[in-house]
Amino acid sequence: MSRIIMGIESSCDETGVGLVRLAANGTVELLADEVASSVDQHARFGGVVPEVASRAHLEAMVPTVRRAFATAGLSMSAVDAVAVTAGPGLAGALLVGVSAAKAYAAALDVPLYGVNHLAGHIAVDTLQHGPLPEPCLALLVSGGHTQLLRVDDIAGKITEIGSTVDDAAGEAYDKVARLLDLPYPGGPPIDKAAREGDPNAIAFPRGMTGPRDAKFDFSFSGLKTAVARWVEAAQARGEEVPVPDVAASFQEAVADVLTAKAVRAATESGIGTLVISGGVAANSRLSGLAADRCAEAGIELRVPRPRLCTDNGAMIAALGAHVVAAGCAPSPLHLSANPALPVSTVTVS
Ligand code: KG4
Ligand code: ZN
Repeated sequence: MSRIIMGIESSCDETGVGLVRLAANGTVELLADEVASSVDQHARFGGVVPEVASRAHLEAMVPTVRRAFATAGLSMSAVDAVAVTAGPGLAGALLVGVSAAKAYAAALDVPLYGVNHLAGHIAVDTLQHGPLPEPCLALLVSGGHTQLLRVDDIAGKITEIGSTVDDAAGEAYDKVARLLDLPYPGGPPIDKAAREGDPNAIAFPRGMTGPRDAKFDFSFSGLKTAVARWVEAAQARGEEVPVPDVAASFQEAVADVLTAKAVRAATESGIGTLVISGGVAANSRLSGLAADRCAEAGIELRVPRPRLCTDNGAMIAALGAHVVAAGCAPSPLHLSANPALPVSTVTVS
């Protein structure tokens, strides 16, 4: 007997609703993945404005749910369980999704699972590449997170082995884009500009790579400052800023550190599979360099397609399906959102 799981995501600026089918043999199939983004409303502020995001979730939630059912060709009564991002994320934004999920679970009389957004970013890969080998290593890189995670069980045991001590990788892209007068979010325009530039033009620093630094932690704020100083110096000399070279050199520094640490972590712990997910996983240089270095080290690399890497509801539905398949206890209907939910808590019970 197969089961239909609905997933609701609202931790940041994307209202996502996903529907998946969990087959009796444990395979998970994507049926619908509808996303409404409020990114345009935040663009002029150069970052997500929490109150604006919450209001946008409220307006988009029901229409996005309806679109998902229409896409899947299912009626709501087909749903067997509702999964929702319980954290981490913006408090007000999370609350909109959690409240909606409770209402749907209560109305449909099905179990509710409050799940971890970070685990969702990893679980989504199973929709494209099938079951995850366990253990595997996950590199999570987005606007809000930069983490190396050891995954022993996607439904229950995830351990952080490293994270950023300051800015997230995506945040660094967004800040450097602003310095270069490129639009927000900065990842895609920097990726594009970098294609015309020389990645070795400027030797930007590789943060946290000294012998005394934590092996698997990251730092991007020094890199961002180095780019700012370099741009200011060029401007002070009255020179035009070579945007493609700056973008390519910055991107090289980010991709170099991320892939070097991830491959080292996998090799040292004897883990044979690396999954890279989150918005920055869409970066062409990051995935290209990761492919080269993983091949060299004999590690299997899995990167979900860009649409699955950025925030969406399918990732929460996928995680919900794995949690249901594992027989985890549902969350109570008084579930609350936890903006600081630790990655070790996959399901909030
Ligand atoms: O996962 P995501 O959609 O949302 C968060 O949870 O933050 O990630 C958004 C981040 C932004 O910082 C954006 O600049 C970055 O992902 N991003 C990229 C690319 N596409 C999106 N960074 C580098 N290269 C890209 N192609
Ligand atoms: Zn995310």
